[in-house]
Amino acid sequence: MTNRTSQMERLIGYYVGHMATHLIRLGVDSGLFAGLAAHAEGIGAEALAEQLGFEAHYVKHFLLSAFALELLDRDADTAQYRFAPHTKVLLAQPESYKYMGSMAHLYILAGQDFSRMPELLRTGGRYTFPQHEEELIDAVANASGGIAQFLTRAIVPRLPGMRGRDDVAILDLGCGEGSAVIALARAFPRGRVTGIDVEPHSVERANARIRAAGLEGRAEVLLGAAEKVDGAGAYDLVTMIQVLHETDPEVRDTILARARAALRPGGLLVIVDDPYPHEPSALREAPVAVLTQFVEAFWGSVLLSPEDQKQLVEDAGFEILSQMVPPPGLMCVTVAQRG
Ligand SMILES: C[S@@+](CC[C@H](N)C(=O)[O-])C[C@H]1O[C@@H](n2cnc3c(N)ncnc32)[C@H](O)[C@@H]1O
Repeated sequence: MTNRTSQMERLIGYYVGHMATHLIRLGVDSGLFAGLAAHAEGIGAEALAEQLGFEAHYVKHFLLSAFALELLDRDADTAQYRFAPHTKVLLAQPESYKYMGSMAHLYILAGQDFSRMPELLRTGGRYTFPQHEEELIDAVANASGGIAQFLTRAIVPRLPGMRGRDDVAILDLGCGEGSAVIALARAFPRGRVTGIDVEPHSVERANARIRAAGLEGRAEVLLGAAEKVDGAGAYDLVTMIQVLHETDPEVRDTILARARAALRPGGLLVIVDDPYPHEPSALREAPVAVLTQFVEAFWGSVLLSPEDQKQLVEDAGFEILSQMVPPPGLMCVTVAQRG
């Protein structure tokens, strides 16, 4: 039951969450989490401070805070710390698709948008994604690297007709800094992956990353709008990772029609996007999507529910093969086929 104390506790939880986000970012960026990860058996504050060349007093309070937040466990006898179960992969293994450490930086930068809102509330103006500092654009790319890994390891291999193939032609619409383009090009060693994005810094970064990965020739990213893409049946797979909600609602039909035209008959479309609640009664079950929508409303984004994503795809003439919202419910994966 809601009473004043429970509402006070709720508010304190939100305020502490803000501090916890900064603490996590510090743990990631300073190497404190990586230092802890190197000691599966546990390590004390003094030893960790010495290893990292940090002031022991601060390290002690960092560790005590992370313990209070239940990110770390603490041995009461030895005062040694180690990650709480299942947490090391989330905060100290950036190579894993389960890694969530880079989300802290993104949340902090997205939070800075709130300082523009008093004026935007009055003027009704927008502060679009490409208008943001490159730091936020890079942080979005870093935070979505795990989705690219998830896509190539868990989604694409299960798509009909993909198993055993290494020569797939793929178009990634709204590819950002190319995480999925690179991951897909690696997953299909004789494949060809083209990315398209409207944001110039992302395109530049994506092509630099492709060159650094030695994938030029099989992967490239072009500056352009998804609603103008011209593929003429050339692709086996079209992907849209966290893009649909950022596109202008007016051109979504055109984007999906273009995606369909770019696919060969029987080709597949994979959309990964936030699952906005379909009914107001479900808003409290998806606060991440709801608050993302709030912040991105000022960017011009309109998040769609899984039901609306499905409808849009069906209206474009695709047959839906599957739709799922894997735990913890941060994204919805829709797979459809061109008939
Ligand atoms: C949240 S980011 C996701 C980027 C990338 N797919 C990833 O997962 O890292 C959304 C991207 O969609 C791009 N975008 C938005 N509208 C677009 C459009 N009409 N055509 C092409 N790209 C678009 C933005 O520039 C941005 O890079």
